[in-house]
Amino acid sequence: MQDPEYVKEAFAGIADRYVVTNHVLSLGIDILWRRRVAKMVHKMSPSRILDVATGSGDMALEMERVCTGAEITGTDFCAPMLEQANRRGLKNTVLADALNLPFEDGEFCALTVCFGLRNMQDWEKALREMGRVLKPGGELVILDFSLPRIKLMRGIYRLYLHTLLPAIAGMITGRREAYRYLGSSIESFPSGMEMCDLIESVGFFKIRQRPLFPGVATIYSAIR
Ligand SMILES: C[S@@+](CC[C@H](N)C(=O)[O-])C[C@H]1O[C@@H](n2cnc3c(N)ncnc32)[C@H](O)[C@@H]1O
Repeated sequence: MQDPEYVKEAFAGIADRYVVTNHVLSLGIDILWRRRVAKMVHKMSPSRILDVATGSGDMALEMERVCTGAEITGTDFCAPMLEQANRRGLKNTVLADALNLPFEDGEFCALTVCFGLRNMQDWEKALREMGRVLKPGGELVILDFSLPRIKLMRGIYRLYLHTLLPAIAGMITGRREAYRYLGSSIESFPSGMEMCDLIESVGFFKIRQRPLFPGVATIYSAIR
C-alpha cells in the first residue's frame, strides 16, 4: 500500500526517461512481457479495452498494434506520464485515479494493469474498481513484479534489485530514490497464490497465474 502523493511525484520526476530506463534495466525483456499480455487480451477479441496506470503508454500502444479494431483507453493519475503517452501516439487518455475511475459500470470488455497495481494505495479497492468498470465475463490481466520462488534466484535478484538497479537507474534518471522505492514496493507486494486469493476475494473467478522466467514477474488473469 503506497502513498499516492509520493508515487505521483516519483513518476513525474522520471517521466521523460521512464521508458528507456525500463528497457535498460530489464535488457528489453519488459517489451516481450507486454507483448505476451497483448496476445492474451487479443484472444478475447474485446471491442473496448482499458489500460489502467498506463504511464507512458507502453502496454496500451502494444495493444493498439495487436488488438486491431479495439478501442483502447489509457488512464493514469500522473499528468507528465500521460503526456509521454500522448507524445508517443496514444490518442485516448484520461487523467484519473484508479481508485475512482470516471467510467460507467461494465464499460470495458478487457482491462490491463501493468506494473501499476503495486504502486496503488489500496490494492483491494483498486481491484474492486477495476471489476466495476469491466462487464460480466470481461477479462482482467495484471502484469507485475514478483520474487522468484527458487531461493538462490531470489537471493541474486534481491541483490540486483536493492543495489545494482538503483545505481544504474540513478545514473540514467538522476533519481536514485525512486528506484529504491521500486525494490521496497516489490518486497511488500503480494505475489503467487496470495495475489490470486486477493483477486478472488473481490469477486473475480477463473484466476490464473503465469510466472515469467525466472519468476521476477507474473501475469495474472481473471474473469469478472
Ligand atoms: C511503473 S508505472 C507503469 C506504467 C505502464 N503501465 C508500464 O507498463 O510501463 C506505474 C504507473 O502507475 C501510475 N499509478 C500509480 N498509482 C495510481 C493510481 N492510484 N491511479 C492511477 N495511476 C496510478 C503511476 O502514475 C505510473 O504511471
